[in-house]
Amino acid sequence: MKINHILSAVIGLTTTVSATGPRPEVVSHLDGLKDIPSFGLGTWLSAKDKVADAVKYALKHGYNHIDAALIYGNEKQVGKGIAAAKVHRKDIWVTSKLWNADHRREKVHSAIRETIADLGVEYLDLYLMHWPVAFVPGKGTRLVRRTGILTTWRAMEDAVRQNLTRHIGISNFARADVEELLREAEIRLYAHEFETHPYLQQQEFVDYHRRAGIKVIAYSPLANTNPTYDGHKPVGPILEDLFWENLAKEKGCSVPQAVLAWGLQRGTVVIPKSVHATYIKENLGALDVDFSEGEMAQIGATDKKTRFNDPGKEWGLELFADLDDPTRLWDDELNEL
Ligand SMILES: NC(=O)c1ccc[n+]([C@@H]2O[C@H](COP(=O)([O-])OP(=O)(O)OC[C@H]3O[C@@H](n4cnc5c(N)ncnc54)[C@H](OP(=O)(O)O)[C@@H]3O)[C@@H](O)[C@H]2O)c1
Repeated sequence: MKINHILSAVIGLTTTVSATGPRPEVVSHLDGLKDIPSFGLGTWLSAKDKVADAVKYALKHGYNHIDAALIYGNEKQVGKGIAAAKVHRKDIWVTSKLWNADHRREKVHSAIRETIADLGVEYLDLYLMHWPVAFVPGKGTRLVRRTGILTTWRAMEDAVRQNLTRHIGISNFARADVEELLREAEIRLYAHEFETHPYLQQQEFVDYHRRAGIKVIAYSPLANTNPTYDGHKPVGPILEDLFWENLAKEKGCSVPQAVLAWGLQRGTVVIPKSVHATYIKENLGALDVDFSEGEMAQIGATDKKTRFNDPGKEWGLELFADLDDPTRLWDDELNEL
């Protein structure tokens, strides 16, 4: 029996236990990979004229997971790459994200439909609330007074019921926000995508998700290699970090492969972005690198607790409040994003 048939068979029979008691679990009927693949291709800042080729190349050379978002402004081109790769829909995993200006119920539905049409994929495997932040539609980054995460989550739950996405999840949430959703969600929170890499390890937060049964998707897995992070914090490039250069040499791999291998070995899903075939191929080599317990402990000791992606100051709110390196709204020196 195929997995989707097994899943359909349990609708209404399984339950999730929440603070308010057990609720029936809604499970998607859509066909697809059972779990999110541990390695994916990121597409933030991937130029429109390059991303289709990058996606096609990745899908033809061992990748089966693409991380997209409406706000990246390139989903049509990502969709062209997916189509050009000529893979079966059910054999790939496609994630996209709901932008902050689309948190209202009716906007959630139009946004996900737009994303699905642009990506040309019929349905998503995972739809994430991009930030726990709501903007007034059409008013730039003007904040909605009450964020109303739960109202938005309910609309995302409807998207699962309507077979628009197989799973739903979140991105960039503080722990208190995750806990609110865990208490209230009717459909299981499948994954949380947040910044984590050797310079912002957040091991406790990663472990917390493992205990709660929520997959962690590590974004910016190559730390400050994303050029948009240049010079924002007084930290040298990870690709030129002597510790990583030596470790990679010992393992007989490149620094990006070693860094990504660490992300995989700690149980996070990694989604490095590249528009270069050589890097796309090289990065997948991380799957062949293993660290000993001692090496994992050594890497653990190099955490710099440094966050590179923090638009909190620009938006005028404190993000990541209960996590390492939160937004410091009034601290000009440390937070010049
Ligand atoms: N949910 C969120 O809020 C959020 C936020 C940030 C990122 N993300 C997702 O996570 C993905 C990855 O994060 P990211 O793009 O910030 O950073 P990243 O993947 O850690 O780093 C990307 C940068 O590394 C370069 N690179 C990749 N492989 C390399 C290699 N083997 N050698 C040398 N350079 C290499 C890329 O170059 P080229 O591109 O020039 O090839 C690019 O400049 C994003 O693309 C996006 O899908 C999500």
